[in-house]
Amino acid sequence: MCGIVGYVGPKQALDVVIEGLRRLEYRGYDSAGVAIVADHRIDTRKKAGKLANLEAEIELDPLPASHTGIGHTRWATHGAPNDVNAHPHVSEDGTIAVIHNGIIENFAVLRDELIANGVKLRSETDTEVVAHLLAAQMKTSSNLADGLRAVCQRLTGAFTIVVVHSETPDVVVAARRNSPLVVGRGVGENFLASDVAAFIAHTRNAIELGQDQVVEITPDSITVTDFFGAPATVHEYEVTWDASAAEKGGYDLFMLKEIAEQPKAIADTLLGRIDATGKVSLEGIGLSDDELKSMKKIIITACGTAYHAGMIAKYAIEHWTRVPCEVELASEFRYRDPILTDDTLVISISQSGETMDTLMAMRYAREQGSKVLAICNSNGSTIPRESDGVIYTHAGPEVAVASTKAFLTQIVACYLFAMYLAQVRGTGFGESSSDIALELGRMSAKVDLVLDTSEAIRELAQEISDAQSILFIGRSVGFPVALEGALKLKELAYMHAEGFAAGELKHGPIALLEEGLPVIVVVPPQGHELHDKIVSNIQEVRARGAKTIVLAEDDDMTINEFAHHIIRLPKCPDLLQPLVATVPLQIFACEMATVKGYDVDQPRNLAKSVTVE
Ligand code: M6R
Repeated sequence: MCGIVGYVGPKQALDVVIEGLRRLEYRGYDSAGVAIVADHRIDTRKKAGKLANLEAEIELDPLPASHTGIGHTRWATHGAPNDVNAHPHVSEDGTIAVIHNGIIENFAVLRDELIANGVKLRSETDTEVVAHLLAAQMKTSSNLADGLRAVCQRLTGAFTIVVVHSETPDVVVAARRNSPLVVGRGVGENFLASDVAAFIAHTRNAIELGQDQVVEITPDSITVTDFFGAPATVHEYEVTWDASAAEKGGYDLFMLKEIAEQPKAIADTLLGRIDATGKVSLEGIGLSDDELKSMKKIIITACGTAYHAGMIAKYAIEHWTRVPCEVELASEFRYRDPILTDDTLVISISQSGETMDTLMAMRYAREQGSKVLAICNSNGSTIPRESDGVIYTHAGPEVAVASTKAFLTQIVACYLFAMYLAQVRGTGFGESSSDIALELGRMSAKVDLVLDTSEAIRELAQEISDAQSILFIGRSVGFPVALEGALKLKELAYMHAEGFAAGELKHGPIALLEEGLPVIVVVPPQGHELHDKIVSNIQEVRARGAKTIVLAEDDDMTINEFAHHIIRLPKCPDLLQPLVATVPLQIFACEMATVKGYDVDQPRNLAKSVTVE
């Protein structure tokens, strides 16, 4: 939700800011804008649509040289995505420029106050009020940071705000509450951004900001305080990946690259966590063996694709550990008065570590006395920082809005946790613990085998690209896989797609079946108690004229006569099958969107990181 960049240093600020925005465009692409400070004035350019529109605008109407600049790529909340509502917003006297990510909840009151004082607002955004409030505040504040601190004390909601002042070149000031902001420490230059990707080409030294903090950067200094001016302690760290990890690396699309990276992402997430005997170790889990033994219930909260990872985790956790496990949409969780105690463990799954619904759910759980474990892909993000412990997934930066490698590594992290918990509690896994852990170690190679079948899946997508609707069915862990396949198709190909538990078909959804409707079926491994039941479901579907596309094990011949198309999956233990079964569905959705001519990496209306509720 909105990407933010700020720069001070010897380089041309515009170049650094535009390059940073390009790397953050995944966060929002409704409009983009920049402001630079030069010769005691602020110059801005802003344009609706993607960053390319802004670049074209600057080409036509160049900006002067400058060493201080800020930039923004927007996912619209208040006001349509047009030129006027694009950030930055500038105060009436032209001295202040502001960019913002989040929602200022009390903006209507503040706007009315400004209007009563004779201020003329130009946009429909909540952000613009900050520019005017800060301009007024600067009449009494001694410097920009002081002024922003005073303004922040008046704001409610979630915000990252970055500001520059025409009279203070070489200074950029920012504030954060419930919205991401990191500082990049360079040599003779410093950076601000929503995500380290924006400055990784310049420095790997990053500083996490805490809640309700204000930071002032100059070329040679970084000063962090709370909203009242008291110095704050910060956590400095080194980013472990480099700029090339956030590039397309020869692929046409980030999504294709990220799908192809999945074997490595799985292997990296497993690295050092399972030994040769199948014993699992989880550094950073932040929960003692006694705490894990005393847990009576587990609740997983997450959104979207991460929620589907949680659904898969439930099957593994309950089967291997016998600890009751619920999975909750984070956006619903705290509003239904859930029962949480100090022997409930809440697991928050989030790629970005910044999803507002998930963050609020975990905060709520902690307030009620529960321990929270994060499963996260973004080092130093808010969710792991506020949790009791964390299992990091090591998927590397995921840029495409549609989650792929993060999903598979979330599933792997959940399996690791379930195995670890079973180990600590001495429950075994039902099967031989070490065998299944060692099988997990082989899944990276199996995902690689699935990738070898990509071409056939693409051909299938091309063949049925005219379909108006596609249904996905599965049972056991194949059910969340079906939901994930449908979600990918909705978000990328903008078409009706639904996932169902196959056993539910006859309770309603079967009425949707009609001649030629594609139904994609995830079949459990042979020998699974639901295998034959789903083979019956395939027959029921086919008998009603649907086109059956069946994902089944390599040597499963029982489905041959009922399937119009078969996608073969390598053999693996039942509970691990989602790791191989999801991949064809990702490739399928990617190709469907490509055939339709849609923007795969930046689908309409979406943003990678959803930092508003
Ligand atoms: O960063 P998070 O994992 O918390 O994000 C959760 C969802 O917003 C995310 O998985 C979303 O559903 C993806 N775009 C799906 O591809």
